[in-house]
Amino acid sequence: MIVNGDNFNITNLPLFKHSLEGLRQSVATPDSFYSSDNVICWNRNFSFMTDEGFMEIMRRNATSNIEMTIIWRTYILCHFATLARSLPGDFVEVGAYKGNTANVIADRIDMATSGKQYYLYDAFEHQEDDPHHAMPEHGPQLFNQVKERFANYPFVNVIQGYVPDSFAQGFPEKIAFAHVDLNQAPAEVEALKRIVPNMVPGGVLVLDDYGWWSYGSQKAAEDPLLASFGLSVLELPTGQGLVIKPYA
Ligand SMILES: C[S@@+](CC[C@H](N)C(=O)[O-])C[C@H]1O[C@@H](n2cnc3c(N)ncnc32)[C@H](O)[C@@H]1O
Repeated sequence: MIVNGDNFNITNLPLFKHSLEGLRQSVATPDSFYSSDNVICWNRNFSFMTDEGFMEIMRRNATSNIEMTIIWRTYILCHFATLARSLPGDFVEVGAYKGNTANVIADRIDMATSGKQYYLYDAFEHQEDDPHHAMPEHGPQLFNQVKERFANYPFVNVIQGYVPDSFAQGFPEKIAFAHVDLNQAPAEVEALKRIVPNMVPGGVLVLDDYGWWSYGSQKAAEDPLLASFGLSVLELPTGQGLVIKPYA
């Protein structure tokens, strides 16, 4: 299986592609080679690519290349969301953007029958002085588009505004699963101060940007905060940070 997805932070794309092909041709398993989302590896099973149920949900929901590019991250989220489904508490995504990841997770775990609520927070627009970067589909239309996307998911609460102030519009008392993805440290730190105390034992927290060197300020700010709650973060090869709240 050869996966040739997009990668980020490349300054010379022709050289990168040439080098990648050289790398592929120089390994013992050129037919098991993966390059996507800054993960390059070979001689792996890539189990998610042969999980037909997962792949069908990915293809059904993806509206652009980026969503397939981050497939390994999404598979990890789905795995832990499946575990968190059996815990008490609701799901949150802080930084939901178009709602794609939340949609995949909700479909994958059949959230409609779980009795859980899913809270999605985002500004959905970008102002010049925002500390996070703009995304291509930010704009005055995006909030309504995301609400429309989840029109048939009555358990999904789409909340517009700046985190953490927007938590005043609705925030779960018990959290089984949290995905934090704001691409900026200050608001993530404030969000975590609210999320972590509400996480149930066994609850899962995934920090999307934790392992990315260029988002190092997030790790620097979040490691000590999480340590103050007695938690440590496992940096995953995908760049995500994984935290499980221990049973007392
Ligand atoms: C990388 S995107 C999230 C992608 C999404 N998690 C997914 O998997 O498709 C980051 C989002 O965080 C939002 N964001 C950043 N800081 C924010 C804040 N303080 N309050 C609300 N939204 C914020 C941005 O508007 C942006 O849509």
